[in-house]
Amino acid sequence: MKIFKEKNYDKMSERAAHIIAAEVISNPKCLLGLATGSTPEGLYAKLVEWCDQGIVDFSKVRTVNLDEYKGLPKENDQSYYYFMNDKLFSHVNIDKKNTHLPDGTIEDADAACKKYDEVMEEQGEIAIQLLGLGHNGHIGFNEPSNGFSVGTNCVELQASTIEANKRFFEKEEDVPRFAYTMGIGSIMKAKKILLVANGEGKAEILHSALTGPVTPKVPASILQLHPNVVVVADEAAMKYFK
Ligand code: F6R
Repeated sequence: MKIFKEKNYDKMSERAAHIIAAEVISNPKCLLGLATGSTPEGLYAKLVEWCDQGIVDFSKVRTVNLDEYKGLPKENDQSYYYFMNDKLFSHVNIDKKNTHLPDGTIEDADAACKKYDEVMEEQGEIAIQLLGLGHNGHIGFNEPSNGFSVGTNCVELQASTIEANKRFFEKEEDVPRFAYTMGIGSIMKAKKILLVANGEGKAEILHSALTGPVTPKVPASILQLHPNVVVVADEAAMKYFK
């Protein structure tokens, strides 16, 4: 595992964006695994900037996203579909037909998960999977549980996740209670994993995920078993690392 400790959020974003840009430059048709949330916003902004400047070309890039809220229509500004278009896809020269997220509008969870697993199967190996880190150690929306998930699954969000995500909604009741997420097994199949974390609020969980026991109670701890993980975090999130 390679760990980059960066001075602040901006430097973290720049380093992480460099890693993704390098992948796209060396493999223009690559499949990127993408994440939403506040942590990657800065790195998406850098990629948009570099695409504008002609440094990175997304025209052949394909993407799969980690997760989507169940029940939110695509035009809802809290859907992850909306987020990805708003932060990245609409501002770079990507072909939107090559971008994929779980379909949160499918009511039947089994059908939605099966459909996304088929999409992932069809797209093939993820060259680099970007991950943020939940306060409870979740990756994607794979919440702490008694076992590691394999394929796409429908999860009931835990109270701490609803609490953390309510900042994006008008009121807490508006936060969807269920989400579709790529499974841990699929995440672990990515050729390379890029975990980003910033702020003191992530310090404790980052430390236990990367140095504590590997357990489904801390889903991100499984990353210790992946052969090619790069962690990019700011100093505040790295507080407990000597
Ligand atoms: C988002 C996702 C989540 C977030 C995590 C951290 O697609 O899968 O696991 O990465 O909840 O969110 P932020 O970055 O908002 O702290």
